[in-house]
Parts: sequence; structure tokens; C-alpha cells
Amino acid sequence: MKINKTLLTLSLLAASTFSQAGEVEVLHWWTAGGEAKSAAVLKEMIEEQGHTWKDFAVAGGGGESAMTVLKTRAVSGNPPSAAQIKGHDIQEWGGLGFLTSLDATAKQEKWDELLPEVVTKVMKWDGEYVAVPVNVHRVNWLWANPVVLEKSGVTVPTTLDEFFVAADKIKAAGFIPLAHGGQPWQDATVFEAVALDVLGSEDYNKAFVDLDMDVLSGDKMVEVFTKFKKMRDYIDSNSPGRDWNVATSMVINGEAAMQIMGDWAKGEFTAAGKVPGKDYICAPAPGTDGQFTFNIDSFAFFELSDEENQKAQQDLAKTILTKDFQEVFNLNKGSIPVRLDMDMSKFDQCALDSMATFKSSAESGDLVPSMAHGLATTSYAQGAIYDVVTNFFNEKDADPKEAAAKLAKAVKAAI
Ligand code: BGC
Repeated sequence: MKINKTLLTLSLLAASTFSQAGEVEVLHWWTAGGEAKSAAVLKEMIEEQGHTWKDFAVAGGGGESAMTVLKTRAVSGNPPSAAQIKGHDIQEWGGLGFLTSLDATAKQEKWDELLPEVVTKVMKWDGEYVAVPVNVHRVNWLWANPVVLEKSGVTVPTTLDEFFVAADKIKAAGFIPLAHGGQPWQDATVFEAVALDVLGSEDYNKAFVDLDMDVLSGDKMVEVFTKFKKMRDYIDSNSPGRDWNVATSMVINGEAAMQIMGDWAKGEFTAAGKVPGKDYICAPAPGTDGQFTFNIDSFAFFELSDEENQKAQQDLAKTILTKDFQEVFNLNKGSIPVRLDMDMSKFDQCALDSMATFKSSAESGDLVPSMAHGLATTSYAQGAIYDVVTNFFNEKDADPKEAAAKLAKAVKAAI
């Protein structure tokens, strides 16, 4: 009798656990070393809750390929549970009616209180949460190999002029000054770092958020293109098509001195067992100390019909903002937690600097959204900027003045 009762309780328990278990299919582009480790943390935490994780990884830094695949899947009526979608794209998907509300979970978990407003704004469509932020990446970073700098007799450059002087010496010492992958989004990442310095935060916002034609075509933009062009002198001839993490590995193994890239690059250094301050240096991109170009990774959630999968979907959303996940994920990813109430004792100096600058730049007006990573403007305007920037960078005799005029024209046609 007693045994039967126990068996009954056990089978009821199993049934209830089972009935709550669903599947989450998650589309992302985190396939590099540090990225894959970070994604694995989420998978593990979801599986611990009894749900099934269906990985939908589409390789390609910056996520262009992932977005193309997502469109095909969504249009054919078979979207994943969640997809890595950022910034303005969230609004575009929301407007098309694809996304589901996370408001019940958001209220229960008090997301409005946990998150900075600059973040919640991006996650809501029509006043309701449809996406969950994972982290805050700072894009305007310079990564450097201290041994290569020392062998070349230079220190970390803090302005663009210093950068060019140092780069000449590094080249003369037989190293590649700047590790770079010739892909449109990487070109745009370097371009926006140069623009942030030359334009300053206010005009950066005018150009890439307000799409102000005068700033886009103005004299300062001509200077941005002039300095950006000079960067080409310090990149090796094998750069076309190179992935960003391969460029990072060139800094790690001492083939190149520096890389200008967001702090997902730190995820690569971490995955390779490297320690900041000792094996590598993180510093603001030249001329951008105190400024912060933000790139917030987030997952947007799609409307599903299966009830168990809907439940699993809400559990996924909830998990992403737990302190446990925020800590482990961001330690691997190179970013900082998006919650501001975290214990940061396990984070390194680069992350602490990032957090301090994230807060101070929000006060000083130097916290600006990344154009290259979809936080500043629509995908249409972004695509137009990418085209002009990449064509300019790849054209031998490109003229900065013409490029600035083209930039304004292309953006105007796209909006
Ligand atoms: C994403 C990062 C990612 C990087 C390289 C960026 O747009 O925000 O999470 O690591 O692309 O793939």
C-alpha cells in the first residue's frame, strides 16, 4: 500500500514536470570560442529546468547571415522561440506582428526596476516587453599585445595621431599594426570608432541617430573618412574576408599589435586563458576615453502556438535576467551585465572600466548607440552606411570628400 502511494506520488510529480517541459529553439550567431561558451551557459540553465534546447546557430560575426535566415523562417510561418535581434530591428519585427508579449514575466520579475531606461526603451514595442537584454557590450575598445608594443618601442596610443605614429613604428619593427577582418560590419566598427573621436558624441548622434544630412556630408565627416582611410596603411593584405576572431587571435599570438573591436574580443582572450593587464591590454579606442558606444545583445520572442513551448519561452526570458546567468554569461562573453545591481567582484579590470564608463558616460552625454551594431538607426540606414563605408575602404583612390557626400545621399535614399 505504502509503496503504491509513493509510486503514485512519484508518477504524478514526473507527469507534472513533464507537462511543463517544452522546447526552446534559439537563433543566434555566437559561434566563436568565447561566444559559444557563453551560449552554452544559457543552454545548460534551460535544460536544468527540464526544457529542451534546440540550437539554431548561424555563423557570421555581426549577425547579417543570421538575420537573413531568420527572415526566411519567420515568413514561412515557422519562427524559432527566440532570436538574437537587436536595437531597431526589434521595433521592425514588433511592427510586423511577429513578437509575443513578455509583460507578465517582466512585471513579476520587476524588469523595469532592474534595468536602465536606455535599455528598456529598446526592448519594448508598443509599451510592452517583447525582448530581453542579455548584456552591454562596449564597442569602442582597443585591444593590444604588450610584448609587441614593447618590442616596437611604443606605448598604447590614446589619440588617433598617437595611433598613427605608433603604427608606423610597429610596422618598421616587422609586425602588423592593426589586426582587421575585411568584412562590412568590421569596417563599420572601425569607422564608427574614428567617427566618435573626430565628430564627438553630439555630432556622432546627429549623424547616426538623427541622420542629419549636414553632419553626414560635412567637413568633419570628410576628416573622419580621411583618418579612416589612413587605417588601411596598417592592415595586412590578407585581411579581406577574415573573421573578427581570427583577427583577435593575431593579437593573441603576437603577429599583430592591436585590434579595434567591441569587447566580445575579450571573450576570445578569456577563452585562450589570457589575463588582462598581463597578457593583453584593453584601452579605449584612440581619442574616445570617457565615451561609450553601446551595443546591447538581446533576444526577441516570437508568437508560438504550442502551450508548453510558450511556458518554456517565458522561462527562457526569466532566466536571462537572473543574477546567476548574468554573471557567468558575461564573464565568458566579455561584456558587462545589463543589471546594475550585480556583485562585480569576479569581473576583471576591463569589465570594471566598462561599467564605470557606462555609468559616467550616461551622465555626461557620451553614451552613444552603436551604428555598426544596429543600435543607432534602422537596418535600412545602417545598410546604406555599410555600403558607402566598405566601398570607400576597398577602393584604392577613394576620395574622402566624395565619400561624405555619398554617405548623405545613400542615407537619404534609404529613409
Ligand atoms: C554582437 C556580439 C557578437 C559580435 C560578433 C555583435 O554584433 O552584438 O554579441 O559577439 O557581433 O559576432
